[in-house]
Amino acid sequence: MRWIIGNWKMNGTRAEARQRTRELLRALPPLPEGLHVAVCPPYTSLGATAEVLTPPLELGAQDVSWQDSGAFTGEVSAPMLRDAGCGLCVVGHSERRQLLGESDGMVAQKLRALWRHGLLPVLCVGETLAEREQGRTEEVLRMQLLAALEGSSPADLLVAYEPVWAIGTGRPAHAADSARGLGVLRQALDAVWGADGAGVPCLYGGSVSAANCAPFWTEGRADGALLGGASLDAQAFAAIVRSAAEVRP
Ligand code: 13P
Repeated sequence: MRWIIGNWKMNGTRAEARQRTRELLRALPPLPEGLHVAVCPPYTSLGATAEVLTPPLELGAQDVSWQDSGAFTGEVSAPMLRDAGCGLCVVGHSERRQLLGESDGMVAQKLRALWRHGLLPVLCVGETLAEREQGRTEEVLRMQLLAALEGSSPADLLVAYEPVWAIGTGRPAHAADSARGLGVLRQALDAVWGADGAGVPCLYGGSVSAANCAPFWTEGRADGALLGGASLDAQAFAAIVRSAAEVRP
């Protein structure tokens, strides 16, 4: 299975979300079997997006609480995301790990909350530039993945390799970096989940654009992409989906 997912991050009003969703739906090509496309608007635009979203486009969120309900000011739970129409949710994005103190332990609990309520987690992992320069990329990727999945049973999951140094910089990783990082993650999935780990789609994310996406599907060994900036432009988003749709895995 392959996925192209747009993470809109903290951008836009409800009206903009409706307009972008309508435009994306008009621009999307017919999807081949096994290729999925989703958008992850900010919480405030989930409802507006759900109003206009139709198949094949799917709806996701950008974060979730590890608790189901209660006195957790500002948090949104997995049952609430389901109620809002979400089928998937990003977890452990590096912006949350780096800027908001999200730990491996919190990420692991959030995964479990999503699984409890039948939502598909999109687990983000990736090394910083300093870690890369210290030659620690493989160790960091393995540690983040193993910490998130420790003690879990095989379940529905997507993993996104997002090198922190490639996010929002306009300088994506090379396809070879993607292939290496995704190889490490696939090995780690095999170590924890055995044969079930082999079925987990592994995506690349970080400055993916319509112009640079094609090598990620082939040399980059990516089962799709997690888009940031490019997903705010419906035409660019659709062009990336078209590129993925042309590749038969
Ligand atoms: P950019 O595509 O803007 O680099 O963002 C990637 C990302 O963080 C998606 O979650």
